Amino acid sequence: MGAKLLCLCLLTALLAYYIYSPMPEGLAEPWTLMLVLTPFKVVGQLATAVEVLGLMNYMEAMRLITVTEIVAATSDENVTVTSTEFNNVPVRLYLPRRAPDGLRRAMIYFHGGGWCVGDAGMKSYDHMSRRISNELNAVVVSVNYRLAPEHPFPVPFEDVYSVTKFFLQSSVLSQYGVDPTRVCVAGDSAGGNLAAAVAQQLLEDAEVKTKLKAQILLYPALQALDLDLPSYRDSENKPLLPRSLMVRFWSEYFTSDPSLREAMASNRHVPAESGHLFQFVNWSQLLPAGMRQGLAYTGPTYGPAGLARRYPGFLDPRASPLLASDARLRRLPHTYILTCEHDVLRDDGVMYAQRLRAAGVTVTHHHAQDAFHGVLMFTLWPFELALGHRLLNNYVQWVKENL
Ligand SMILES: *[C@@H]1O[C@H](CO)[C@@H](O)[C@H](O)[C@H]1NC(C)=O
Ligand SMILES: *[C@@H]1O[C@H](CO)[C@@H](O)[C@H](O)[C@H]1NC(C)=O
Repeated sequence: MGAKLLCLCLLTALLAYYIYSPMPEGLAEPWTLMLVLTPFKVVGQLATAVEVLGLMNYMEAMRLITVTEIVAATSDENVTVTSTEFNNVPVRLYLPRRAPDGLRRAMIYFHGGGWCVGDAGMKSYDHMSRRISNELNAVVVSVNYRLAPEHPFPVPFEDVYSVTKFFLQSSVLSQYGVDPTRVCVAGDSAGGNLAAAVAQQLLEDAEVKTKLKAQILLYPALQALDLDLPSYRDSENKPLLPRSLMVRFWSEYFTSDPSLREAMASNRHVPAESGHLFQFVNWSQLLPAGMRQGLAYTGPTYGPAGLARRYPGFLDPRASPLLASDARLRRLPHTYILTCEHDVLRDDGVMYAQRLRAAGVTVTHHHAQDAFHGVLMFTLWPFELALGHRLLNNYVQWVKENL
């Protein structure tokens, strides 16, 4: 009996030691969060291990999370869900069953996952799409774009752009009973990056007559120029997405060549000849004082010219929408941006909100002081947080009122 009890105590202690991660102060529900993050921690460590052993590519292993979370496209009493293709790109389509009271609204959604993992069919994304479709009586198109590193930039962008362009044709909108003046693009994380890039590209495309009503950017990644912003510092305290993983996602979006990853890790990947672009991500001007955390702005650090010649994607506004000129930003639609305090991507979103406002765009910027990257994924048992529900409700409410 005594021995069993001792074993149990030891096991519990070991488990607690494994689950325990330091959490930044001010984060909501730190203990529940530690528990729900454990599977992500396990897969992350597994991915590193299989890569070191040469068994599997790191991102392939990371996709284990995605695969276990995918649910079939099944209709329910409120929403008809189907898997189909628009312009040869797979999409999950959510059509409300309720009788429309006039033309419907529509959302084109891009899932997150660092351009390398994730799927429109993951439980949490499926849940969000269903909810928007049902509560807003709206058509939701959730896109399964091809993923890096097998399909590096610009393929993921081109896939989501091609779906958007297909859907915005007046013949397609009328087929689904959609009001052409009430369509938005939306996405979280890497999906927020794609949504921002799509909204910008549409402005230049003479073939597209439909104008977006809104863009919704949920803790988006918006630039790969400066990976040493204040929010990228002190990365140990950023749950789910530490700086090292974000650097990995950014570099794999362009190439699996480790030389780009290493240069990005030391923030020496931009050549001096592109120095003028730093004005667009100048955090000493674009961040409010409270977010500069008393850090001194020291200016850009530069790297070899060869990297940008081989992988020009990271200087391209279709990958780094923050690099667009003010003249281009000015014509963007009504914008909702969610940023989280404990997120390496916090400053990307905050700076974009600032630049859009300065350019005259109407922006609703919701900064969640007690939240972390990916928080909207945590609204379903057993990965459920009150914080996830609160922020999802806020976002859905905004879409209800503004789309
Ligand atoms: C269908 O919609 C109603 C009203 O919004 C809701 O109460 C119900 O839970 C929904 N059913 C499903 C399966 O989501
Ligand atoms: C950034 O802004 C500061 C002023 O706040 C200025 O001194 C510096 O030259 C700017 N740097 C770049 C690269 O735009």
